[in-house]
Amino acid sequence: MAVWAVYLSLCLLIALSASGLEPDYTVNWEAKSLKSRDFDCYPDGGSDQAKCEARGCIWEPSSIPNAPWCYYAETHGYITSNIVETASGITVDIERNTDFPIQRSQSRDINKLRVEITFLSGKSLRWKIFDPANARFEVPVPLELPATPETEENNRLYRVQIQNKPFGIQVIRKSSEEIIWDSAVPGFTFSDQFLQISTRLPSNYVYGVGETEHPSYTHDLNFHTYGLFAKDQPPGYKLNSYGVHPFYMGLEKSKNAHGVLLLNSNAMDVTILPTPALTYRTIGGILDFYMVMGPTPEVVVQQYTEMIGRPVLPAYWSLGFQLCRYGYANDAEIADLYNDMKAAKIPYDVQYADIEYMERQMDFTLDKENFKGLPALVDRMRAEGMRYIFILDPAIAANETKGSYPAFDTGIEKDVFIKWPPKLSDDIVWGKVWPDYPNVDVDNSLDWDTQVKLFRAFVAFPDFFKKSTAEWWGQQIKDYYNNVMKFDGLWIDMNEPASFVHGTVGEKCLGDQTLENPPYMPRLESMYRGLNHKTMCMNSEQILDDGTRVKHYDVHNLYGWSHTKPTYDALLSTTGKRGVVVTRSTYPSSGRWAGHWLGDNYSRWDQLLKSIIGMMEFSIFGIPYTGADICGFFNHAEYEMCLRWMQLGAFYPFSRNHNTINMPRQDPVAWGDEFAAVSRDVLNIRYTLLPYLYTLMYEAHAHGNTVVRPLLHEFVTDENTWKIDRQFLWGPALLITPALDPGVTVVRGYVPNARWYDYHTGEVVGVRGQFVDMETPLWKINLHVRGGHILPWQKAESNTHYSRLNPLGLLVALDDGGSAHGSLFWDDGEGIDTVQNKRFLLTTFTASSGVLTSMVPTDGLAEADRLTLGLVKVWGVTAPVTRVTMSVTGQPDADLPFTYNAQVQELQFDATSQSHTIEKPFTITWN
Ligand code: GLC
Repeated sequence: MAVWAVYLSLCLLIALSASGLEPDYTVNWEAKSLKSRDFDCYPDGGSDQAKCEARGCIWEPSSIPNAPWCYYAETHGYITSNIVETASGITVDIERNTDFPIQRSQSRDINKLRVEITFLSGKSLRWKIFDPANARFEVPVPLELPATPETEENNRLYRVQIQNKPFGIQVIRKSSEEIIWDSAVPGFTFSDQFLQISTRLPSNYVYGVGETEHPSYTHDLNFHTYGLFAKDQPPGYKLNSYGVHPFYMGLEKSKNAHGVLLLNSNAMDVTILPTPALTYRTIGGILDFYMVMGPTPEVVVQQYTEMIGRPVLPAYWSLGFQLCRYGYANDAEIADLYNDMKAAKIPYDVQYADIEYMERQMDFTLDKENFKGLPALVDRMRAEGMRYIFILDPAIAANETKGSYPAFDTGIEKDVFIKWPPKLSDDIVWGKVWPDYPNVDVDNSLDWDTQVKLFRAFVAFPDFFKKSTAEWWGQQIKDYYNNVMKFDGLWIDMNEPASFVHGTVGEKCLGDQTLENPPYMPRLESMYRGLNHKTMCMNSEQILDDGTRVKHYDVHNLYGWSHTKPTYDALLSTTGKRGVVVTRSTYPSSGRWAGHWLGDNYSRWDQLLKSIIGMMEFSIFGIPYTGADICGFFNHAEYEMCLRWMQLGAFYPFSRNHNTINMPRQDPVAWGDEFAAVSRDVLNIRYTLLPYLYTLMYEAHAHGNTVVRPLLHEFVTDENTWKIDRQFLWGPALLITPALDPGVTVVRGYVPNARWYDYHTGEVVGVRGQFVDMETPLWKINLHVRGGHILPWQKAESNTHYSRLNPLGLLVALDDGGSAHGSLFWDDGEGIDTVQNKRFLLTTFTASSGVLTSMVPTDGLAEADRLTLGLVKVWGVTAPVTRVTMSVTGQPDADLPFTYNAQVQELQFDATSQSHTIEKPFTITWN
C-alpha cells in the first residue's frame, strides 16, 4: 500500500506542478513515506508502543504484511560534522544525533565515527565507516584493489554526495544521474554489537545476498529478511546455510547494473524493502563497502571478481559427470557401480567415497575391513582414465590411543587446534562431529542425541588461519596420498564448522555470553538457540597469521574460507596437478581455490528450480563451478523427478549425483534401461560440449565472466529477462530450458531477441523476444544455440581421458547476417598454472560470408596435447553449396567432403582427412 500511495502522491505532485499549483504538502508527505515509514526501528521483534517510543521511534500499526509498526523518525541516525574532500576521496566525521535516546540497549553506542570514501578506480569505490578512536575487528580477507585511486574526476563513472541530517552517502551514476546508493535514510546505527545501515535502491530488481535458498532469482521486495551466518543447515526458505556472501547486484532504471559488497564477516541479516531499499544489520566489525559500477551485469561480475580474486580453473576432467553416495557398503559396491556404468556406456569421470571409506569416520584413515580393496580399485579406475575425489572434514578425532593417530598427535605437537582465550583456559574447545570413539558398537537405532553422547568422539577444530596449521594439514594430505591411496581432487565438508554439540562438549561456553547470545540476534535459523547452535563457541579464540588474536564470533563465517586455500595448495603440491577442490562453506574469494555444491538438498521437484537460482547466485558470487546434488540428497528420489534432474544436472558445471545414507540408489544405472538411455543421451550432449564449457571456465578464470549465465546478463535491455530463473545460459550461446515440474510434456520458455537454433535438429526457431511453448517429452531437454556464435565440441566417450583425444568439431550458428564468432581454450587439462605460464592454446574462430577463419592469439600447447580439426556443422546456410575448400599457409588448398541439407539449412564438412592441428590458422570457404 505504501508504495502505491507514494506512487500516487508522485503522480499528484507531477500533476500539481504541471498545473502550476503549490504542491508543498505532497512533498512533505512523500518524503516521510519514502524515507521513513519502511525502516524498521524494532527488528528484534516483540515491540509495542511503549518500547518503540522509548527508542525515540514512531508507532503506527500497518496492514501491509511484514511492514514495520515501529519506524524511525526522519533524522534518526548520525549528523555530519566535518567533510574533507581530496582528489582521491572524501573523509567525513559524523556524530550520533542525540535528539534520540540510546540506539541499542546493552550494545554500547559509538558516538563519533569516521567515514572514508576512496575513489578506487573510475569504476569502483569504497566507503569505510569505523571508530577512529578504537580499532575494531576488520575482515582479514585480502582484496585486490587498484594501486592508486582515480584522482581524475572526469575518469570516474560516479559522483559522491554527502547528506547531513541524517548522515548518508549518495553514489550517483553520472551518465544517467541516477542515485544508485543512498544511505541518507533514517536508522543508521553503529554500536558495539549492532551496526545497521540502509540504502535506497534505484530499481525493484536486486539479486544475490547468500547463502540462502531463494524462491526466485530476483528478490521479492516485501520486507523479507535473510540471515547470513555459516551453518550446517540444509537449504530451506529463509534459512541461513553454509556460506556467506554479503554481495548484491542491482539494476537501475537506466538498465545499467552495479554491485555492492559489504566486507563484514560477523553474523548479519539483510532485509529487502518495497521502498525499494535494503537494510543490513550486522553484530560486529566495521562497515566496509565496495561498489563496482558495471555498467552491465556481466561486467559487474568481472569487476567484482577482479576485486575478490578470479575463480580457479578446474581440471578438465572435473567437468565430467560424477557419482557419489553417502553410505557405500564397501569397495565392491563401488566397483559394481563402475562396471555397470561402463556397460551402460554412460559417460562419467569421477567417483567419490564419502566418510564411510574412513575408519570410524576419521580423516586420513582407511576402513580396512569394508574398504580394503579401495586403493586397488582406485588404481584400476585411474588407469582407465577415471578420477577419484575423497571427502575430508576439518574436525579431528581426539580419543585415539596416543601414537596411533598421527593427525591428532602432530596437531597437538604443532598446536594447530582452536582453544579458549588463555585467561579462561588453555584447553582445546572440544566439539563432536562424525568420528566415533574407539571400541564402541554404534547402535543406529538410538535417537540422535544419544548416539552423539555415546558414540561420537571428541574432536578438535584446526585453526586454518595459522600457517603452521596449513602446513600440518598439507602434510596429512601428502602422507595419505603417498602411503594409503591416490586421489585427484578433494571434497571439504562440514567446514562452517559444523558440530553435533552446541558450542562445546557439555555445551557451556566460557566467558562473555553476549558473544553467544548477542543483544541483537540476526534473523537466523538458530536465533532462539544462540549463535553456537550446531557449531563451536563464539568465544573460542583464533590466531591470524600476523599473530592477532580474534574471536570466533568475528571470524566464524571465514572458517570454510580459511580451510580452502590450504586444501587446494596441498592438493597441488601432493598430486603435482591442479585437480579440483569442492567446499561446502564459502565466503567472497573462495572461488579462487574451489567450487561449491549447493549442499544437502531434498529429493523434491521444487529443488530443481532452486538449484538454478542457487547456481546463478554463485555465478555472481564468483564461484562458477557449482551445482546441486542431482536427484536430491535427503529422501527418496522418484523416477520422473530424478530423470528430469539428470537432464538439468547435465548442465550444472559441477555435475554430481549424490544422496544420503540409507536412501535407495539414484544413480543412472539404478532405474532400468529407459532411464539409463535418457541419462546417456543427455550426458553425451554434455560431453560433446565440454570444449565449450571448458573455454567458458577459462574465461571465468581469466576475465571473470559467468559460466551459468542469467539471461539478463546477455539481454539486459529486454526487461522480460530480468525475472527469468527457470532457464539459464551457458556463456553467451547455449540456452537451457529444463522441465522442472512433474508430468509436463510442454515447457514455457523465453526466446530472447536473437536468432536461435534447436540444438537437437539444427532448425532455426521461428520466433524471438517471446515466450513460447516447447515440447519436452520425457527424453528431451530443450537446448538452443544462439546465432552468431561458434561452439567448439568433441565426440563424447566414456570419460574425458578418451573424449579429449577426439578431433575438434565446430558448431557454427550463423546470425541473421550470416556471421558468427567463437573461441577455444585448450591445455593439458590438469597442469598447474597453465594460464599464468601460457602453456595453452587460444584459438578464435570467425565465420562471415561463407568463410570460416581461425586465428591463434596464444599457442603454448605441448605437442602431445594438440588437436586436429574434425567435423564442422554450419547452421543457417541459406543457399546450396557446391564446393568447400580448406587453405592453410604453405600448403595447397584442399577440397573437403561435405553435405548440405536444404531443409534444415545445414552444411557439414569434415576436415579429419587433412590431419590439420588447430594451432595453425586455417581458412575454409564454401560456395
Ligand atoms: C554432509 C554433506 C554430505 C555428506 C555427509 C556425509 O551432510 O553435506 O554431502 O554426504 O555430510 O559426509
